Amino acid sequence: MCGIIGIIGTREAAPVLVDGLKRLEYRGYDSAGIATLVNSHIEGCRAPGKLANLEAKLLVDPVPGTVGIGHTRWATHGEPTEANAHPHMTEKVAVVHNGIIENFRELRDELIAAGRNFQSDTDTEVVPQLITHLMRQGRTAREAVAEALPRLRGAFALGILVAGDDQIMIGARRGSPLAVGWGDGEMFLASDALALAPYTQRVSYLEDDDWVEVTRDGATVFDGEGNEVERPVIVTQLSGAAIGKGNYRHFMAKEIHEQPEVVGQTLHAYYDALNDRAEFPGLDIDLFEVPKITLVACGTASLAALTAKYWLEGLARVPVEVDVASEFRYRQAPMPKGGMALFVSQSGETADTLAALRYAREQNQYIVTLTNTPTSTMARESDHVLLTRAGPEIGVAATKTFTCQLVVLATLAVAAAEARGTIDRGEAAKKLAALGDLPSAMSEVLKGESAIEEVARSLNEARDVLYLGRGPSYPIALEGALKLKEISYIHAEGYASGEMKHGPIALIDEHVPVIVIAPSDELFDKSVSNLEEVAARKGRIILITDEAGAEAAGGSAEHVITVPQVDPLASPLVTCLPVQLLSYHAAVLRGTDVDQPRNLAKSVTVE
Ligand code: M6R
Repeated sequence: MCGIIGIIGTREAAPVLVDGLKRLEYRGYDSAGIATLVNSHIEGCRAPGKLANLEAKLLVDPVPGTVGIGHTRWATHGEPTEANAHPHMTEKVAVVHNGIIENFRELRDELIAAGRNFQSDTDTEVVPQLITHLMRQGRTAREAVAEALPRLRGAFALGILVAGDDQIMIGARRGSPLAVGWGDGEMFLASDALALAPYTQRVSYLEDDDWVEVTRDGATVFDGEGNEVERPVIVTQLSGAAIGKGNYRHFMAKEIHEQPEVVGQTLHAYYDALNDRAEFPGLDIDLFEVPKITLVACGTASLAALTAKYWLEGLARVPVEVDVASEFRYRQAPMPKGGMALFVSQSGETADTLAALRYAREQNQYIVTLTNTPTSTMARESDHVLLTRAGPEIGVAATKTFTCQLVVLATLAVAAAEARGTIDRGEAAKKLAALGDLPSAMSEVLKGESAIEEVARSLNEARDVLYLGRGPSYPIALEGALKLKEISYIHAEGYASGEMKHGPIALIDEHVPVIVIAPSDELFDKSVSNLEEVAARKGRIILITDEAGAEAAGGSAEHVITVPQVDPLASPLVTCLPVQLLSYHAAVLRGTDVDQPRNLAKSVTVE
């Protein structure tokens, strides 16, 4: 899950490459580098760490040239050093790569035996070495690439420059996304269209096993059999404007505060408030008949999926299965005839989720993707796309895309319940109206941020934090723990409240903050009993509840964060806000890199 970019044109390549890499840095930020062709030989510049390090290096040592490729890395094979940074270069070829070459050991041994010298610990380096080896044996660049690609196992998007030929740039794709950008007298390659938005909105997407020869005037695409093929050029709506933080210190803070607005926008794409109806035009499956809905996703998106299981089963009485994609893709799950498989992915590019989607396709399921990225691979491979209107999410920690996913899934649950007759028209209208009230309830929670910041101080010294929740609050507890771990690096676990006594209760002492998410719903009394069990062991309770809950819970909690009372269907969208703010402020207090936490990347396009 690295980001790659390429340009062939008449202007200086380096500034365009660096600018494009800024838009791709969400894909990884362990190192960055560029290579260009200068008087037909390859020149490169690479730096470990964030893109700013490469920029600083280029200021001192600029790299000229009008043909170039660039890379921002999330390390898989080899530490994030300069030697392991892309582009990987030989005397003849420079390569940037997103993905993993699974048979790199075997290829490396073969190439070393043939006399090639390797400079890095990466899997990627076998690609330029193999192409160079084939060229040394007399193949042209095009022949060498065509012969090398079938020898690679695994996933890749590649950008390739060949010394001695500044009239072409080569791209290839298998498993990892690659877009070709069509400019005016200049052409581009990039991992996604967003990177190219300031330069062109006309893009075509390569399909698996395609490779492309790009000149200044156009592109010729070949499929895996070597046949010349057409890939349609589409016009994206992406804006080239730089995405800023506004008055916020971090993107995450800005994105948290955008939620009332984007949740409202997303809801109204599926909710006709005038007629109080949920609408899913183009969703071509009978929600009355559907025997089962399988929800698959990774990370935070999988917790949106898990929340939806409670809604779809509870409200619509439809059997639902939820799994994380990395497990689902390999476990050969039987899927029923006529079933619907719903994939939740902000990026629409997550490798495991995409593989799970393809498995479900083989099982003849009706494929739906819920995504924030309409041009993504998953969107393109689906029968139907449900879009979240969250706008670009730059912080690695998912916040606004999570709540937008939740609101679409909640609306879908109401639509399914009405279609299946498990709730009547009046009840459906009431539920939808409750969702319609969310933007104002969410704004209300955000107004209490300073009090939540104070509570976050009490997490600062903690070694472990427990999150507990029941019913639809359980996935929010899991999300709280995930968020806290990923940006503040404090160890946290989420548990179903009732499970606590089956193990994690052993952790509790006067040093362990226990964050209990318990709105005053039908399970509230049970949650209070669990809270008392924590109190009896001197656990430091932080209770997230509504006013009625705060009143009923008694005085066992060290801190109470009160959220507005909402319909139980809307409750996870309200309780997840304090959970996000707690982790955000805990991270700020600890001085971590909130928007780009260590070891992570926003888009995980490798297994
Ligand atoms: O793009 P996706 O929604 O498929 O990404 C899935 C996860 O990688 C993602 O939700 C991740 O867990 C979040 N960045 C965590 O905040």
